Amino acid sequence: MSKSGALDLASGVGGKIEKKQVLSAVQKYEKYHVCHGGDEDERKANYTDMVNKYYDLVTSFYEYGWGESFHFAPRNKGESLRESIKRHEHFLALQLGLKKGQKVLDVGCGIGGPMREIARFRGKQQCLSNNKRRGTSYMTANFLCFRQLCNVDFMKMPFADNTFDGIFAIEATCHAPNVFDCYAEIFRVLKPGQCFAAYEWCITDYFDPTNQEHQRIKAEVELGNGLPDIRSMGECLEALKLAGFEVICEKDAAADSPLPWYLPLDKNHFSLNNFRVTACGRFITRNMVKILEFLGLAPEGSQRVQAFLEQAADALVEGGRRVTTLHFISCLS
Ligand SMILES: C[S@@+](CC[C@H](N)C(=O)[O-])C[C@H]1O[C@@H](n2cnc3c(N)ncnc32)[C@H](O)[C@@H]1O
Repeated sequence: MSKSGALDLASGVGGKIEKKQVLSAVQKYEKYHVCHGGDEDERKANYTDMVNKYYDLVTSFYEYGWGESFHFAPRNKGESLRESIKRHEHFLALQLGLKKGQKVLDVGCGIGGPMREIARFRGKQQCLSNNKRRGTSYMTANFLCFRQLCNVDFMKMPFADNTFDGIFAIEATCHAPNVFDCYAEIFRVLKPGQCFAAYEWCITDYFDPTNQEHQRIKAEVELGNGLPDIRSMGECLEALKLAGFEVICEKDAAADSPLPWYLPLDKNHFSLNNFRVTACGRFITRNMVKILEFLGLAPEGSQRVQAFLEQAADALVEGGRRVTTLHFISCLS
């Protein structure tokens, strides 16, 4: 189901962007970021353009390197990357207490990997999913248990108040320009007394805004992940409460993880089962993209996308050691 060959990667770069426009889209995307002279206010004001450009440019790389679920996961010893991602998704499903026939929303579903896994795990409930760019026909063709798939902005969803029995978000609301407005919109469409569970990507208390090195890592993570800003766990919890939620459970998911969530990206780590994201795999991908771009099979600009993703991978590892983390939150409306 996941597109994973080199030619899929090459032909997918740019997504909905005209192939001839890919290079200029990369340049425009980069300019939003601090590493290229951009600033946070501009990213927030233009979040739709910034996030859409990012996912158009990177989705085929994600599919190639990561598969169908575009998120990290705390990992147990002896567990493969895929197993830890699945376990993470099952945990979320259990937190939501999903039952057959319920209407569930996956906020920012990517290409639908988690949603499909959760539906398989919980017995094919009706799920709705929203995502800015990708996936509609891709998913409906294969997973008819999902009632509807819509490309909508989670900051302003075209759903009536109190529509859903459960809502989840995995590393998606970190793209919101304003976390309170985003949670308030989720609160509005969730039925009263129901659960919203999320994995938020956050900055840790260790982050020191006066530390240049920390700022550099944060800026590179934002560039490599299409983020307007990275918020602290405290800011997210405060915003949830202000939006009307009662926080039931929250924890730094990375803190008690036997293996670090960023391990697959660590250059010093080698694994055959996620070879493509290891240092060696990245070296092969880099040269392959170079050749594909030279041959005209990948659009001009593809190497640049690969370069900022590599920069991001290194920043994620550096950041993951102390500055950024995955935060699990479960709350009731
Ligand atoms: C890191 S991916 C995670 C995708 C998915 N949750 C998963 O784990 O595979 C973040 C997703 O959020 C979506 N997204 C970002 N901003 C959005 C917005 N304003 N409205 C809807 N979706 C958005 C992106 O298109 C992307 O698919």
